Amino acid sequence: MTGIKDVLYVRFCVTDLQAQQKFLDDFGFQTRIDDGLLMARGTDGSPYIYLAEEASEPAFVSVGFAAESEAALRDIAAIDGTPIEPNPLSGGGLIARLTDPNGFSVEVVADIADSSLLTVAGRSGFNDGVEKQRLGERVAFAAPECLVKRLGHVVLMVNDFGETFAWYQRRLGLLISDEIVMDKDGQEQSLGSFTRCNRGEEYVDHHTVFFINAGHADFNHAAFEVANWDVLMQSHYLLKKAGHQHSFGVGKHILGSQTFDYWKDPNGFMLEHFTDGDLFNESFGSHKRSPADLMGTHWGPDGMPGQ
Ligand SMILES: [Fe+2]
Repeated sequence: MTGIKDVLYVRFCVTDLQAQQKFLDDFGFQTRIDDGLLMARGTDGSPYIYLAEEASEPAFVSVGFAAESEAALRDIAAIDGTPIEPNPLSGGGLIARLTDPNGFSVEVVADIADSSLLTVAGRSGFNDGVEKQRLGERVAFAAPECLVKRLGHVVLMVNDFGETFAWYQRRLGLLISDEIVMDKDGQEQSLGSFTRCNRGEEYVDHHTVFFINAGHADFNHAAFEVANWDVLMQSHYLLKKAGHQHSFGVGKHILGSQTFDYWKDPNGFMLEHFTDGDLFNESFGSHKRSPADLMGTHWGPDGMPGQ
């Protein structure tokens, strides 16, 4: 078991920092602009899970992963002889800046000091049709300090899945959860894979990175976890009433089981809210699934995110 604990942040260039901050506030982050850098956090302890600077052209800049430890960061950096530098951002720590085979900037960090946790959007128990958890009391919601909890996964379109996954597997220790395969002229063709962190017996998200075998490199989306279904729908209506661009949802994926809701930010980058995703550990292994499983939902709209 080596590598990373989790994905930690995504970083962008945007054309209007104030408009982006307004969107992120409406999306459920707690935000601040510090010396031209827009930093957004959730209720978990990381001081930032989204970063943006203003530029004339919008761009996906990098994805950041938290190493298991400083020793793990040193092992990762040593593979390419990448220098480890002090991290200049809030929380400090150490950072190694890698470049993957697609040209994506991949930052690996360690020892970032957590900020204090913020109040999560808790609620009293659910009374569903089968099990009644809330007896003799009205439903009650705790007032959260912000609605987003954490960054859960990123989805990247890549030139060549095999080459890309080999790179990430060696450096970050990622495991394949579900590979999407289809038959083409009697040959098995990979459309990409949902990959997760390897933390041994510890349960992790079904996917931390989904690599789409697209034949070109591009950012697809980043997904942020919210506390529960109520928050997902609360956020949906907050964003809708604020006039932001909805992309896809609400629905429930088959692979990963997340209840999802996709939005577009002011520059058209897709950001997702999710809740109730599957958790697996190392023993889950790796599986092959069909494009129908990828495209299908337990319930939700037809189509795919981003269309
Ligand atoms: Fe997603």
